[in-house]
Amino acid sequence: MMYKNIFDTHAHYDDERFSEDLEELLSSFPQNGVTGVISCGVNAESSEKNIALSEKYPFIYAAAGYHGLNTEDLTEDYLDILTGLIKSKKTVAVGEIGLDYHYEKETRDIQLKIFKRQIELANEYGLPVIVHDREAHMDTLEILKELKPRGVVHCFTGSVEMAREIVKLGMYIGLGGAVTFKNAVKPVEVAKFVPGDRLLLETDAPYMTPVPFRGKRCTSLHIPYTAQKIAEARSTDVQNILDISCKNAKELFNI
Ligand code: NI
Repeated sequence: MMYKNIFDTHAHYDDERFSEDLEELLSSFPQNGVTGVISCGVNAESSEKNIALSEKYPFIYAAAGYHGLNTEDLTEDYLDILTGLIKSKKTVAVGEIGLDYHYEKETRDIQLKIFKRQIELANEYGLPVIVHDREAHMDTLEILKELKPRGVVHCFTGSVEMAREIVKLGMYIGLGGAVTFKNAVKPVEVAKFVPGDRLLLETDAPYMTPVPFRGKRCTSLHIPYTAQKIAEARSTDVQNILDISCKNAKELFNI
């Protein structure tokens, strides 16, 4: 089955798991229906790599930011560095930023601080944010309510109630491979609930590979499997899900 309008709003093509065949892989995207990819940084170095990719491939866009798990990479001038990175022509968002209490609860205070600072910077430059929230739903929601950025909560793992709050703020919900996992109850409920104009598709490649490819490396070419599951939940077809999420991505990221 050939699809079109595949827009992956969250991938990490700077990851070393792509180093061997990156050029071959990315070059195959247009003929396979991939029209856009946002490759997200998690610190200064990876943001720079993604910006370089975005300059090489017309369908790749970059997001620059410091992930909550990379607080040890912070230098005193991290905000100045980020300001430079977001001025690149193809940087369309500040991300991936946010809170991760699953792996690093002990760095909570510094995570909160750099998350807020980066949202403020995004607001100042009129850019959307790409938000990571792992086991930090309450703090994430509180900060989003306070600072009101445009943007997306990626790989959304919250409840329908939280999704409703995010949508009320005018933000988008990013859904990826997790909706296809066995025992995925909440993500499927959220997939049913999200208003059509607030849904984004993503991979988090090389991670979060959808069924039936779990255990293998994830790429943007796997998006239709996630779209299939969402289409089933919403009683529509795969191409429709790809079309609306592509349109939403272009609107949010001003592409
Ligand atoms: Ni990610």
